[in-house]
Amino acid sequence: MMKALEIITKKRDGWKLSAAEINFLVAGYTTGLIPDYQMASFLMAVYFQGLDFQETVSLTAAMARSGNVLPLKDLKRMVIDKHSTGGVGDGISLALAPLVAAAGLPVLMMSGRGLGHTGGTLDKLESIPGFRTDLSSTRALNQVKKIGLAMIGQTTEFAPADKKIYALRDATGTVENISLICASILSKKIAAGIDGLVLDVKCGNGAFIPSFAAAKKLARTLIIIGKKNGLKIKALITDMNQPLGKAIGNSLEIAQALEVLRGNGPADFEELTLRLGAEMMVLGKKTNNISAAKQRLQTLIHNGQALSKFYQLVKAQGGDLARIPVAKHKVEINSPWKGYLFSMNTKEIGLVATLLGAGRQRKEDSIDHSAGIILHKKLGDPLRLGEPLATLYYHQAIPIDELKKRFIKAVKSKAIKPKNRPLIYKVLA
Ligand code: URA
Repeated sequence: MMKALEIITKKRDGWKLSAAEINFLVAGYTTGLIPDYQMASFLMAVYFQGLDFQETVSLTAAMARSGNVLPLKDLKRMVIDKHSTGGVGDGISLALAPLVAAAGLPVLMMSGRGLGHTGGTLDKLESIPGFRTDLSSTRALNQVKKIGLAMIGQTTEFAPADKKIYALRDATGTVENISLICASILSKKIAAGIDGLVLDVKCGNGAFIPSFAAAKKLARTLIIIGKKNGLKIKALITDMNQPLGKAIGNSLEIAQALEVLRGNGPADFEELTLRLGAEMMVLGKKTNNISAAKQRLQTLIHNGQALSKFYQLVKAQGGDLARIPVAKHKVEINSPWKGYLFSMNTKEIGLVATLLGAGRQRKEDSIDHSAGIILHKKLGDPLRLGEPLATLYYHQAIPIDELKKRFIKAVKSKAIKPKNRPLIYKVLA
């Protein structure tokens, strides 16, 4: 009989684990036989000792097999999804999923909650009162058949291991590990039963894996293990040295997604949405040409069809956009400098948003869906003394002056304009 403690100490001491040992831990934790404290200890051992490729394959398989696989094959149509490795202000999925679905490519998106300093699609969607992300397989499948789109989370039925491990990693400082990220993302996607996946692998100071070389390793690992599991897969390595778009926080990002679908979104957000959408269209064989796909998606924004797909989604999953929460308090941060916005500590800005109430400190915490930050300036923008840099939104009693100071410290200005960074660094297939 295998013991969890033996497996934990084996990994702690740097030994390789067998597929059976990894399976035992994942299955035991999923069913509740292995407690949180042992899984947390295992995750920390993995964080320090790492998993090799074979162990990562075994972890992904064990997590993917922890529940059922959605029978999407019954649709007899190719279903493509997109997933980001996590960033600040990265609400791309909110606009992208309805946009691509409006183009006739069915989308079944299985997403996660906020993780570390980053937000999660499920929390953002649930900032719409009534919006359900825990759909049964029958309901999710019927919805994809009917409107071509469903956005759901891990449940006790699908990827239950990721549901539990994800929440535990968030509260135990064990997010930033290539194998854990890979197994988390791919187990959800395999359980969703999709055919293809476009990955947005973030690199930069707001990403879980900041360096380009490590982001490339993560992208390659995801591609190889994804392909081994029968997924058509493509990865883009994209910049996360500043938040994406202008909004950080759940309901604020929903409002921004609506603006993107109306054609009024921030330039970087729109550029990445169109590119990822075009990659999904090519992977889903709707076209073989990225620029033609982008043009088609732009048309769907301008003729209102993408926006009406978003409304259909909200209605189908029980949400009421008219009741979206608005923060009780807001405070402006004005520029103490003149010059150019030179750099941002993106992770720190994400943490400020979390502390405003947009994220969790502990697994069981509830979040304030209306809290967050609106940026008025992005990298390279000219700054005048006293001009608004950002607005902080919050609801509860929090040390707002301290958070204002943390925000200011996370931003640097210089007299010279920084060089423009590319938004997309590399495309890997
Ligand atoms: N997204 C996930 O689903 N899991 C991670 O670990 C990181 C990003």
